[in-house]
Amino acid sequence: MQSLAKRPARCSGKACVGAANGRRVLVLRAQAASSPAVESISGVRPEVVEAIAKAQNNCLTATDLPLPNRRQGKVRDTYDLGDRVVIVTTDRQSAFDRLLASVPFKGQVLNQTAAWWFSATSHIVPSALLTLPDPNVAVMKKCRVFPVEFVCRGFMTGSTDTSLWTHYKAGARQYCGNSFPDGMRKNDRLVANVITPTTKAEDHDVPISPKEIVEQGLMTQEEWDTVSAAALRIFQFGQEEAARRGLLLVDTKYEFGKDADGTIRIIDEVHTPDSSRYWLADTYAARHAAGLEPENIDKEFLRLWFRQRCDPYKDAVLPEAPAELVCELSKRYVYLYERITGQPFQVPDLATPVNERIVANLRKAGLC
Ligand SMILES: Nc1ncnc2c1ncn2[C@@H]1O[C@H](COP(=O)(O)OP(=O)(O)O)[C@@H](O)[C@H]1O
Ligand SMILES: [Mg+2]
Repeated sequence: MQSLAKRPARCSGKACVGAANGRRVLVLRAQAASSPAVESISGVRPEVVEAIAKAQNNCLTATDLPLPNRRQGKVRDTYDLGDRVVIVTTDRQSAFDRLLASVPFKGQVLNQTAAWWFSATSHIVPSALLTLPDPNVAVMKKCRVFPVEFVCRGFMTGSTDTSLWTHYKAGARQYCGNSFPDGMRKNDRLVANVITPTTKAEDHDVPISPKEIVEQGLMTQEEWDTVSAAALRIFQFGQEEAARRGLLLVDTKYEFGKDADGTIRIIDEVHTPDSSRYWLADTYAARHAAGLEPENIDKEFLRLWFRQRCDPYKDAVLPEAPAELVCELSKRYVYLYERITGQPFQVPDLATPVNERIVANLRKAGLC
């Protein structure tokens, strides 16, 4: 699959188009020497690209819907209806436990991508999803959420504090109950997929082993055995489906809960570009052999942009992400949605403020 850098990014604002190694790439004029070059992804229809630019001032950053018990997560706003939860996926882009930017259509892509995967994986474990009354909204069965994030990994990679590579590079060979041999390089494929769970904390997730999960009473041994096996099966299924689309599903995280009947269900999101890292399969081996980073279609480039300019874990104020990078990220989200689901992304009506549209759709669905 060829998808990156077929079409140069437009030159505007603080960014311009440059050429590197014969390929045209988007580079940032300010601090260009230390900027990661971000290639403009192709294959997104021009009308969608145009809509992304227009939608920048109609992003869904906050919600205040006429529904009870609002709770704001990093990306989702949830409203608790008792037996059900209304989950609004916003356009907020978070990383390093911080809000980095609002990305046009991101919430819609995440919500609709997750819905597609919930349905595709229902033969492995049932999901909590009931309906999507709006492109950005899911109604789910309310579950008692296990306070654990089930992180599944197929590769030795990552740059955050809880990443496998970060720990391995620092000398760790045991991580969350898994052992890793000496001599691994960044981005190597693991001999087998692993689960590296973290606690599901308000501010910062912490790695934990299955033994500690049971000892601390976060789950029973039986729950851990059932859920971890389901997580690995969903991950393997996701990798196989991704491979059929020319993608490597590198790593991901799942959340599970129990509904009122005690049924274990997968909740929140599945294999979205927010919860997962995807690389392009056809260039992985050659690039890895040459010591280059894999071509990715995820938010890593935005993370790197912040990492190179500030300490995103400590600084009180972060620099503002350039519009060009935000629009590029939006295109990648849309690209991934279309590639995975095989369905064209439906541009919403941009004339209506997104919050108004959501309220109208919730009314139509009899939810408020
Ligand atoms: N079906 C469900 N039942 C109960 N809680 C859910 C369900 N689906 C998702 N949640 C919770 O809703 C919240 C969604 O917000 P999000 O921004 O994704 O959270 P976080 O900040 O924890 O990443 C999470 O706390 C998630 O655990
Ligand atoms: Mg979440």
